[in-house]
Amino acid sequence: MAPSSLLLLLLALSALLPLLTLSLDPQSDYLLLMKQSLVGPTTSRWALPPPSSPSSSSSVCDLSGITCDEAGRVTVIDLSLGFLAGSLPPNICGYIPTLQALRLNHNSLRGGFPLGLLNCSSLRELNLNFTGLSGPIPDLSPLKSLRILDLANNQFSGQFPLSITNLTNLEFISFNENRGFDVWHLPESFAALTKLRVLILSRTSLRGEIPKWIGNMTSLTDLELCGNSHIGRIPAAIGKLKNLRLLELYYNLLTGEIPEEIGNLTSLVEFDCSVNQLTGRVPEQVCALPNLKLLQFYNNHLTGILPPVLGMYASISISSVAEARVNFFIFLCLAINSLENYQRIMQIALLCFGFESITIS
Ligand SMILES: *[C@@H]1O[C@H](CO)[C@@H](O)[C@H](O)[C@H]1NC(C)=O
Ligand SMILES: *[C@@H]1O[C@H](CO)[C@@H](O)[C@H](O)[C@H]1NC(C)=O
Ligand SMILES: *[C@@H]1O[C@H](CO)[C@@H](O)[C@H](O)[C@H]1NC(C)=O
Ligand SMILES: *[C@@H]1O[C@H](CO)[C@@H](O)[C@H](O)[C@H]1NC(C)=O
Ligand SMILES: *[C@@H]1O[C@H](CO)[C@@H](O)[C@H](O)[C@H]1NC(C)=O
Repeated sequence: MAPSSLLLLLLALSALLPLLTLSLDPQSDYLLLMKQSLVGPTTSRWALPPPSSPSSSSSVCDLSGITCDEAGRVTVIDLSLGFLAGSLPPNICGYIPTLQALRLNHNSLRGGFPLGLLNCSSLRELNLNFTGLSGPIPDLSPLKSLRILDLANNQFSGQFPLSITNLTNLEFISFNENRGFDVWHLPESFAALTKLRVLILSRTSLRGEIPKWIGNMTSLTDLELCGNSHIGRIPAAIGKLKNLRLLELYYNLLTGEIPEEIGNLTSLVEFDCSVNQLTGRVPEQVCALPNLKLLQFYNNHLTGILPPVLGMYASISISSVAEARVNFFIFLCLAINSLENYQRIMQIALLCFGFESITIS
């Protein structure tokens, strides 16, 4: 071998050396980085060997908030409600490629969306609810395994990440209370998320009509679109969402009548369309829903007093409400079929409308 090649070989070997020692226990190395940059009671209790020291990889599995698979590979990091402050160290999945769930909700993180998460191709659950993060959200298309995405209650801004419509395994999406997004409209591509059970997009700068194709998302159990600027009618197609339990549409600019197709939503437990510009009567079908516990529609331009179906047990005459137009109208539809609940409805009517008296005859 020529001396120059020998020299090259030696150089190459010496360049490799630090890499070899560094990767003895990358999981432990990462958690140590985490302990240093996400400071709080949980992480400070973590007993970890200094970086690059040989250690049994099972030790990290005993740390609080860490779950491993049988082979000792970290699958869950759960530091929710951890009173932590700081930031997530970079390249998390370079160190822990087996990560399936990361829960950092209810902590004080600094800065923007942690970009290191983008090569977490095994990640199924990401919970960053109430973490104080801000700035734009990158293209999330690489997170192919994601099922649960909770980015609620942060200060994210810029374009809403429509890339999530590429993540067809998603079952739960919440962006609740991220008021800084540019104004956007629900694109049809959302209909591709056929496994979606929960869609929470309240206070995310959404505009425009609630699209008819929402009726195609038949896996939905929870649809929340409050505090946006939705206009137009509540689409009758919403009546196709047979599994819907929660329908929250309050604080929008919706007009027209409440579609009687809502009466097809036999699983519905809560329906709130308060503070809109809805007109007409509350359809009787809505009050006859078997599972409904809460029905609220105050501050609209609804006409009529109580739907006649409420008078099943007795006829009601309510004094001091002469006009048919009721601007503040709220009651619980809780089972019209028991006298106890019926009296409760009357109590609420007394409290909320300031009626002087209600006569049941
Ligand atoms: C993760 O992504 C970063 C940059 O985006 C890259 O440098 C790194 O090598 C990636 N790691 C893995 C394990 O793919
Ligand atoms: C979906 O992913 C493809 C490629 O992975 C990308 O080109 C496209 O822009 C993504 N769609 C959205 C809405 O981001
Ligand atoms: C986020 O945190 C809030 C406050 O603790 C909680 O009420 C909510 O259920 C959490 N999840 C979502 C999706 O908002
Ligand atoms: C919704 O379903 C209807 C009827 O099956 C179909 O024609 C339409 O293309 C669907 N829309 C979307 C956006 O998927
Ligand atoms: C939905 O409701 C409408 C009006 O109440 C009714 O005519 C229709 O048959 C219902 N559709 C289904 C599928 O239940």
